[in-house]
Amino acid sequence: MIRAANSEDAEQAVRVIRRSIEELCVSDHQRDESVLSMWLSNKTAENFRRWLKSPDQRLLVAEHDGAICSVGGATRSGEITLNYILPDARFRGVSTAMVMALEQILLNRGNSLVRLTSTQTAQRFYHSMGYQDAGPPVFWGRMPGYPMEKIIE
Ligand SMILES: CC(C)(COP(=O)(O)OP(=O)(O)OC[C@H]1O[C@@H](n2cnc3c(N)ncnc32)[C@H](O)[C@@H]1OP(=O)(O)O)[C@@H](O)C(=O)NCCC(=O)NCCS
Repeated sequence: MIRAANSEDAEQAVRVIRRSIEELCVSDHQRDESVLSMWLSNKTAENFRRWLKSPDQRLLVAEHDGAICSVGGATRSGEITLNYILPDARFRGVSTAMVMALEQILLNRGNSLVRLTSTQTAQRFYHSMGYQDAGPPVFWGRMPGYPMEKIIE
């Protein structure tokens, strides 16, 4: 089940995001402590609650057996900002459903172009969802991110 996130989700949602980064995105951070700590630094329950209050951002969670297994987010301007899965829930279609739900929200708001910066880990996933590369990698410290976009209708 995918639903709008609320402030009571903050602790659990942040745990999902942090585990997803730490355990699944190893090819991105390569277990480099400085990269990892920079990446994780804003992934706090306090920030999650702040993001929830922002009129610019919509946050969703996917639940399985009453527990959050995925967290997604998109901005009003059409950028997917969060798409993280609990490692135990990987490759069961959850992120596909999450991205489709975010695309639907953006479509309903009148966006026709979805943009995101992919991890290396998720590049193949986004390509299979119809996203195309949109320029050279952008660097966040030493870590590359891959701009991608997709026209939705
Ligand atoms: C890659 C990832 C996003 C896929 O999400 P998921 O919920 O596990 O995947 P789904 O079951 O919805 O989709 C499966 C698709 O993932 C891709 N995939 C399958 N195996 C993969 C692998 N070993 N590595 C990367 N992608 C793979 C394929 O495109 C597959 O589609 P297919 O079965 O049609 O070929 C997720 O597993 C992951 O690693 N997330 C880490 C966090 C992250 O990088 N998020 C993106 C931030 S921009």
